[in-house]
Amino acid sequence: MRIKTFGSYTKLPSSHLVGCTVISIDLLRSSTSMTWALVNGATKVIPTTEAAEAVSIAGRMGGCILGGERGGIKLPGFDLGNSPFEYSKEAVSGKSVVVSTTNGTGALCGTEGASNVLLGCMLNCTAVARKAVELGNDIIIMCAGTEGDISADDLYAAGAIAEAITQMTNNVSPCDMTIVARMIYRTWKTDHREFFSTFHCSRLIKMGFEKDVEFCLRRDITDLVPEYRNGVLSI
Ligand code: MLT
Repeated sequence: MRIKTFGSYTKLPSSHLVGCTVISIDLLRSSTSMTWALVNGATKVIPTTEAAEAVSIAGRMGGCILGGERGGIKLPGFDLGNSPFEYSKEAVSGKSVVVSTTNGTGALCGTEGASNVLLGCMLNCTAVARKAVELGNDIIIMCAGTEGDISADDLYAAGAIAEAITQMTNNVSPCDMTIVARMIYRTWKTDHREFFSTFHCSRLIKMGFEKDVEFCLRRDITDLVPEYRNGVLSI
């Protein structure tokens, strides 16, 4: 089983996805918030690349929650931003959620052609690794990155998931980027100081989202693995 990691989904040709299981990661904060919405009972999450598309889908569906951000800030007229704490049981249980974020939702929307698309983050790290191993396909860990560049926070989560996969099966052939991601995870897992100084993370902390960052780093608090099919994330 090959594991390939891409630091930014924008660098990943769609022809590479055919026959693979994709694990899509935007650790800070979109993968975490969408996973948390489903853990808290949202019936489904519909990710969109463009904010206007989210507004139009929500308008057509009626009765759903509209969430998302640009540059970390809640979009004007939207119900929720991109903090996982906003996707509480009270806010989302029993409801459909339509979400558009700067990078994370666009990454998911570009995964046509893959056999399976799973949403990964630290909250479901071991569960998403197990599910990917069970599916038996080659695995692509696709990081959202930040505006076309790699984002070290995503690589940290990619490394944690790759490490968990490696502990579950010997039948693994990691690409060089996967090995680098595992090194990042091993280096930072017990000391997050350098993680906190990385570009997107430090920007979120400066904006007052330190508690979000701490939450996104919590590991294995759910066994639920959202799967993206036909434009919809569900569990
Ligand atoms: C994104 O999609 O780029 C992020 O989730 C941004 C954020 O942290 O709000």
